[in-house]
Amino acid sequence: MSGNSEIIPGLEGIPIAESAISLVEGEIGRLSYQGYSIEDLTYHCSFEEIIALLYDGELPNQSRLDEITDKMHDYRQLTPDQIELARIAGKQSHPMFALQAAVASIGGAKNDFESDLDHVVDRGIALIAKTGHLVGTIAQSADNRDYVGPSDSDSHAAMILKMIVGDDCSQKHIAVMNELLILQADHSAGNASTFTSRVVTSTRSEAEAVASAAIGALSGPAHGGANERAIRLFQEIGSVDNAEAFLSKMFDAKERIPGFGHRIYHAKDPRSAVIQRIAEEILVEGTESHELYSIALKVEEIATDKLSARGLWPNVDLFSGTVFHGINVPIDFYTPLFAASRMSGWMVHMKEQWDSGNRLFRPRQIYVGNQNKDFLEISNR
Ligand SMILES: CC(C)(COP(=O)(O)OP(=O)(O)OC[C@H]1O[C@@H](n2cnc3c(N)ncnc32)[C@H](O)[C@@H]1OP(=O)(O)O)[C@@H](O)C(=O)NCCC(=O)NCCS
Repeated sequence: MSGNSEIIPGLEGIPIAESAISLVEGEIGRLSYQGYSIEDLTYHCSFEEIIALLYDGELPNQSRLDEITDKMHDYRQLTPDQIELARIAGKQSHPMFALQAAVASIGGAKNDFESDLDHVVDRGIALIAKTGHLVGTIAQSADNRDYVGPSDSDSHAAMILKMIVGDDCSQKHIAVMNELLILQADHSAGNASTFTSRVVTSTRSEAEAVASAAIGALSGPAHGGANERAIRLFQEIGSVDNAEAFLSKMFDAKERIPGFGHRIYHAKDPRSAVIQRIAEEILVEGTESHELYSIALKVEEIATDKLSARGLWPNVDLFSGTVFHGINVPIDFYTPLFAASRMSGWMVHMKEQWDSGNRLFRPRQIYVGNQNKDFLEISNR
């Protein structure tokens, strides 16, 4: 490739949409949803309130919250076939790909979303609700357990955590699950998976096609998959005392530290600070989760020293895995849980994209291949 100066690699700095959903202020490290700081929202709200906030632009009163909660309960139901398909997928592949397949498969037989646009909000809420249910279903199958669905009274966070770790999880851990769902619910239109959701929406695709494509985009280690990579790195490092030597080898080999760096943040990711508050509240000294958190802190110290001058700081994935670990979620499920949370952002962006007129995304290429070649029959090649 010639490195043509017209091309902006990674579309860096190119605006792709107007959006009123969330604001990432990269230079000062601030994140807000519809004007409310992420710190206040995680501390005070339920995930169901956040769904109302993202869709409505304002925090709900009690009756609106009741309405959203009822819809989440009604719409989360899965048919026996959908459960069976998710369970089979959960035995075949990484849960992130099982989730992608299961979400794609809950779409109906028709392919005409435009005729159903009056229900764009309900279709989105249904996907948010069902995705959490599917993550729990896949977790039970991957763990060779029978399917046990949600109880009527379970919040979204309670349903997910109980299905993954069992009914005896504590209220404190359910509260942590709720905070993690809120924290990762949206992050502007420009991140790769949300941009994907808008590109697929622009082809006028069904909501399930939008959702499953976005899950695929989130899975990679440069995006949502980094939370899994980070915790596996801490496990490999093994102890705080090993961190210095281990990272030094990584720096020499020019390897990337998972959980570090961000296209937009050039300060510490504000979500990391929230996760650290949670980690300090719940992780018990002497446990493996606490040890992994201590290693994460050491990695933060060493890598910040080395990388911050280049604008690289801890992102959400440096510490999120330590908290998932602390509430007993299996490592393979950290990224699917990120997806269950971000499904809310993707679905609200899908609506915003339609509301904006939904012009097809169609950038252009700069062709650098061969031209005008003479065709040769196979016998002459
Ligand atoms: C998130 C990420 C993809 C952003 O990448 P980007 O904006 O495209 O930045 P680039 O890939 O162009 O990297 C710029 C430079 O910083 C370095 N860099 C970026 N992230 C780094 C990391 N985590 N550790 C070490 N060096 C890193 C790159 O090697 C590159 O160095 P060079 O200029 O010497 O080649 C990148 O920081 C990364 O891969 N981080 C680790 C994965 C991760 O945590 N992802 C979750 C994001 S929320």
